[in-house]
Amino acid sequence: MKIRIALGAAAAYAALALAGIAPAPTSAAALLFDSKTQPEHVVLNKSAKTAKSPDKEKVPFNHKTHSLKNYSADLKSVIGCADCHHTDQPKSALKGVLKTSEREEVLTTAGLEKADAKPVKSCASCHAQADVKPAGWAENPKVTYEDGDEVVLANEEAYHRNCITCHEAAKKTKADTLAPIKCADCHSGKATSGND
Ligand code: HEC
Ligand code: HEC
Ligand code: HEC
Ligand code: HEC
Repeated sequence: MKIRIALGAAAAYAALALAGIAPAPTSAAALLFDSKTQPEHVVLNKSAKTAKSPDKEKVPFNHKTHSLKNYSADLKSVIGCADCHHTDQPKSALKGVLKTSEREEVLTTAGLEKADAKPVKSCASCHAQADVKPAGWAENPKVTYEDGDEVVLANEEAYHRNCITCHEAAKKTKADTLAPIKCADCHSGKATSGND
């Protein structure tokens, strides 16, 4: 499965940043908020952009609807926390290309409330912008898919694979789903989205 979207825009921006023309992206650390508190409304894509392209717009994400309503691709069940927070599950539960485990028990709300539970890491602490070293990881993760394709999972690739793959599947289940697929519907610049 390949998802290649707007690599050009990101690459052009990185080139400008390297040449010292564009301001450096907000440091990865400033975007992080590893925490034990589940957010309700999150604003993603907060880094400053100069190009007139959709990626300069913020992406609202409703954590409450996605973790409490029937938002699985078939709209029949609640998504498991570790379907998104994929490193927060034991090694034995990992599927497909996943091999990194940082939690002994699969992430749940109840588990997170235990006094000794570790906080949940932001996706961006491991999936930083292209050519930026992620704060919580040695380099942006790379995986090789079954079709032999090696993909660097910088922020754009990682979030798009997570969000858009499921939204496209949801659209097959329900043609008039609220799940956005078009660039501007996600990169809307709005502070909130939702169904709550
Ligand atoms: C389902 C929602 C969704 C859709 C649809 C979507 N994006 Fe994104 N996009 C995101 C999220 C979330 C991020 C990651 C933001 C972050 O790092 O915080 C992102 C990141 C990006 C980035 C990287 C920005 C950076 O920080 O370097 C680019 C470029 C981008 N998107 C362009 C596009 C384009 C072009 C389209 C349409 C072809 C598109 N996106 C469609 C949600 C979406
Ligand atoms: C602790 C670091 C870390 C965190 C936090 C993290 N990832 Fe990852 N991610 C990785 C690594 C490393 C891989 C490569 C596969 C592996 O080693 O498990 C990966 C792989 C992926 C993949 C490709 C998997 C596939 O099946 O195609 C996606 C998509 C992804 N991450 C999205 C996310 C999202 C969304 C979040 C936050 C909800 C997130 N990641 C949080 C490190 C992380
Ligand atoms: C559809 C994907 C998705 C699901 C399902 C999901 N989360 Fe998240 N969660 C996210 C994203 C995206 C963020 C924002 C992280 C970032 O900054 O990139 C987040 C943030 C968090 C945070 C705040 C710390 C941080 O990483 O920013 C906590 C705590 C958390 N989630 C716990 C949970 C728990 C517990 C569940 C299950 C009840 C859950 N999440 C389900 C995607 C998801
Ligand atoms: C595993 C499936 C899945 C994943 C992963 C997922 N979504 Fe969704 N999302 C849905 C479904 C299903 C709906 C719509 C449900 C409906 O039509 O009733 C939706 C709706 C939305 C909506 C509009 C309604 C609302 O509740 O806010 C936005 C915006 C959205 N998603 C953004 C995102 C972003 C950004 C990501 C990645 C960080 C993401 N989603 C990841 C399944 C998913």
